[in-house]
Amino acid sequence: MKHLMDITDLTTSQIDELINTANKIISDPEKYQDTCKRKKLATLFFEPSTRTRLSFEAAMLELGGSVLGFSTSDGSSSVKGESVTDTVQTVGYYADIIAMRHPKEGAPLAASKRTTVPIINAGDGGHSHPTQTLADLLTIQREKGRLANLTVGFCGDLKFGRTVHSLINALSRYEGIEYVFISPKELVIPDYVKAGMLDNNKIKYVETTNIDEFLPKLDILYMTRVQRERFFNEADYIRLKDSYILTPDKLKSAREDLSIMHPLPRVNEISVKVDDDLRACYFKQVKNGKYIRMALILMLLDIKV
Ligand code: NCD
Repeated sequence: MKHLMDITDLTTSQIDELINTANKIISDPEKYQDTCKRKKLATLFFEPSTRTRLSFEAAMLELGGSVLGFSTSDGSSSVKGESVTDTVQTVGYYADIIAMRHPKEGAPLAASKRTTVPIINAGDGGHSHPTQTLADLLTIQREKGRLANLTVGFCGDLKFGRTVHSLINALSRYEGIEYVFISPKELVIPDYVKAGMLDNNKIKYVETTNIDEFLPKLDILYMTRVQRERFFNEADYIRLKDSYILTPDKLKSAREDLSIMHPLPRVNEISVKVDDDLRACYFKQVKNGKYIRMALILMLLDIKV
């Protein structure tokens, strides 16, 4: 594997290897502190980000490497009209590995054809977000001790939420996975995700607008924000944005061992009162995100420790 565009680029054993390496880094970070000495990571973010960009940068710094890049397209020649492929080809002469986020679906893939250095898709439009999925998988493995035999509820914006699409693609390869998709009718899972992953693999799922009905059955509840920036119409966003709000009261019917996940940023969909609930895992996802990105950088640079 040279680039990481989509979670399906990784085999199950590569995912296992990344999770193992991340767990080893968590237990002995000093051992890894010079493994990327003199290597440079470029972060090219044409769309806003807090966790993804900074965890990539922290990951490279903790491996002993350096970072360069930009956090808004305003700071790059794309405002002068340069194509994303020209920008990435250029940065490929300066960096050893590139993490890029772009509002257009497929932009990282197009860029990967124009450079010899590994490109990591750090989110492309409403399409996919494989490194968030790796952080999610590491979190599920650490919380549940397994990636198979889980009933996973996804709630919120399942149409535009790229983290949802990527995590479905990843989990669907494991045995005994069932899904409950909870969303307003306007924000259901796209047909291409359903046809490609769920129907082809004969995976059981239900679609509902009602969170209360299925909450008691879930091992994992993956909440998501309504993706304002992907709406064509502000009125629709305002109408749908508070469709689901998770509160301590709502969680009374949920299992004791539920894991509550969210890729963050949260807007309104999880009350801050839930943060002290032992079932809340969203800040664990944030922490795990750095370690799994360290593991991914080592894998793509082919550095053995
Ligand atoms: C997500 C994203 O960018 O898709 N954030 C993240 O990377 N953790 C989720 C979101 O923006 O809602």
